[in-house]
Order: sequence, then C-alpha cells, then structure tokens
Amino acid sequence: MHTIQEVAPQILYVGASDRRLALFENMFPLENGVTYNSYLLLDDKTALMDTVDASVARPFLENVGAALGGRKLDYLVITHMEPDHCATIAEVARRWPEAKIVGNKKTFTMIGQFFHEDLSPRFHEVKEGETLSLGKRTLRFVMAPMVHWPEAMLALETGENILFSADAFGTFGGFNGNLFSDEMDFEALLLDEARRYYTNIVGKFGQQVLATLAKLGTTVPSLICPLHGPVLRGSAIPLLLDKYTHWASYKPEKQGVVLAYASMYGNTESAAHALAALLAKKGVKDLRLFDVSKTHCSHIIAEAFKYSHLVFAAPTYNMHLYNAMDILLRDMHHLNLQNRKAAVIGNGTWAPVSHKAMLALLGEMKNMEVVADPLVLLSSLKESQLPELETLADKLVASIA
Ligand code: FEO
Repeated sequence: MHTIQEVAPQILYVGASDRRLALFENMFPLENGVTYNSYLLLDDKTALMDTVDASVARPFLENVGAALGGRKLDYLVITHMEPDHCATIAEVARRWPEAKIVGNKKTFTMIGQFFHEDLSPRFHEVKEGETLSLGKRTLRFVMAPMVHWPEAMLALETGENILFSADAFGTFGGFNGNLFSDEMDFEALLLDEARRYYTNIVGKFGQQVLATLAKLGTTVPSLICPLHGPVLRGSAIPLLLDKYTHWASYKPEKQGVVLAYASMYGNTESAAHALAALLAKKGVKDLRLFDVSKTHCSHIIAEAFKYSHLVFAAPTYNMHLYNAMDILLRDMHHLNLQNRKAAVIGNGTWAPVSHKAMLALLGEMKNMEVVADPLVLLSSLKESQLPELETLADKLVASIA
C-alpha cells in the first residue's frame, strides 16, 4: 500500500521510514527510526529527487510507481551519494530506462564507484547555478561541497522557493503520519534529534555549512524538503536556520554546564554529583549530567554543541584515560567542537593521570578555555578537598556570562 503525500501542487512525497534500524550508520542509536525522503515532481517533465536506503526500497518503489501513474520518469536528480539515499539508483534506472540521471561531476564519479552497471550514457551533468526546467517549475542547483560529502548539492525550486536540501536540515526519527513540521510540536519532539543528527554527522564541516547558507542568500525558503525527517514549513524554518548558524559557527546556543563523567565504582560519579549540586546551589540552572558509559556519546556531543561550559570527570585506566571518556573527547575533537569553557576532575588510586590526558585532549581542540585548575582525586573526594571543589564551582560560575 503506497504512502504518498502531497508536499505542494505536483510535488509528492514518496519516501519511507525504517523503524527497525537500531544504529544509523551502524553507529548512532535510533530510538524512533529514521525516514529516507524522496520527492517526485510531476510537471511537463517528471523528476524524482533522490532515492532511498535499500531497507525501504520496496515501499519506495511502490510509491514512485503509483505516483507516476503510468507516466515515464524523465529525471532522477541525485543530491547526495551516501548509500542511505543512493542505494536504489540502479533499480530506479532499470525500472525507468528513459530517466536521465542528474548530478555533478563528483556525483558521477561516486556512481561509478558504488555501482557495477555503466550508467554513464544517462548522466546529465549540472554545475553551480545551472537550472533544469521541468515545465512550470525550474530547479536551480547549488553546490554544497562537504555538507557533508564532496558531491552534495541542493536544488532550489525557483517558483515557490522550495529547497531540496539533501542531508541539511534533516533529523532522526521515523514518521508519525504528519509530513510537515507545523503539523507537530517540532521543537518539543524533534529539535533535540535534529541537533544530534547535525552535530554528529555534519558537525565537523561548519565552515562549509556557513558557505552554503551564504550562497542561499537571505530569502527564506517557503518549504525545506530534507532527506531525513519532516518537510519543514512555518516556524521550524527560521528556528533551524538560527540553530544551524550557531552549530556551524560553534557558538553555544545557551550558557550552561554539561557534566560528563566516567566512573567504575561510583567515586568519580560522586564527585561529579557533588560539583553539580554546588553549581545548582550557586544558581546554575538547566544542568546536564551524563555517565559516558550509559549515555551514547552522540547525545553528549549534541549537548556539548548546545551549551557553553563542559566539565569532564574520569578515572585513570591503564595509565591513561578511561576509554569511554577518551572516545568522547576524541569524537568532540574530530567534530571540530570549539569555543567552549571547560574544567576537569581526574581520579586515580596510585598514579592519577586522567586529568592530564583530558587537558591534553582539550588542548588539541580550538579555543577550549580551561577555567580552573584540575581537581585531582586519590580514589575518592575527601572532606579536605571540598574547598578545592568550591573553588572549581566558583570559577565555573564566574565564567558563565
Ligand atoms: Fe543521509 Fe549523508 O546521508
């Protein structure tokens, strides 16, 4: 049974959801699945905007067939070649043999790499700013290199200013039935997942995201059709444009403290809780406390992009840093997180070095200001160290603008 929905006159949603997938990219936990979006434009010419992941090929192909209603497919437009979108290209090409495949030079190199069929006779290459007329509607192509792959491009439908945004403005989460962001409480339901999606997948490429946003100019699209999540309409568009500007420039959305701790037997955890309680007593609101062994690092990364201050507390392990904390800090580095204020608490029973390891990793990141001396525990936090903990809390509070 097809699940086609109308996006705009003669533009149909033909994508599908996968709620069985446990880990997106075999890495990121999905509590509610993910959508793989595809859109069909039915104008004088027909154009399919991207394909879908292999897991949802069947409902997608049923949707496309039903939506075409016997018409031929003239164009298959490929805005992004990651397999969660490109996996079904060869099958679409087989079923609709007259369709030209629209992409840029890098798109076609990747098609050659991923597929064994020679699809090159069907390639229709487009460059920055070039257009494709479908009849009443025209698509203008905006290259978006490294957002977050080199071949990524956006397509702007120029008549109604509808942006087909590839992975940009996407979010985790399967469909609940409503297609548009203004048919749901987007901010309450999906903003956190939009942030987790962006920061973990595109987070490294802030400079390229800003360059692409600049190319789009100041005209706000009437609709944004991403490759994951709902079609954006209404207040979600300015909301996400503002969030993208913060995330891509590594500016915190708000002042506040994220405390991430690792603890084998509860002693480091106890110190992290003591610090959190002190910060609360001193007036810090909306504290975010995470056990790095319990909360997947993708969630902590998203919170770290949101808030201004980061505290890391971890024991020493194998004369280095507890592994889950090591992974979190290296991931933050790889994702280019910068411009934060930080503090660390280390622990060790005979030779504590975790504080030094955390400071070294923070030192590799850009503009991470350590606002207090590290608090170093020998097995557990002692009464005699409470003044040190108080000083740490005071320095954090003083640095919160
Ligand atoms: Fe949703 Fe970069 O693929």
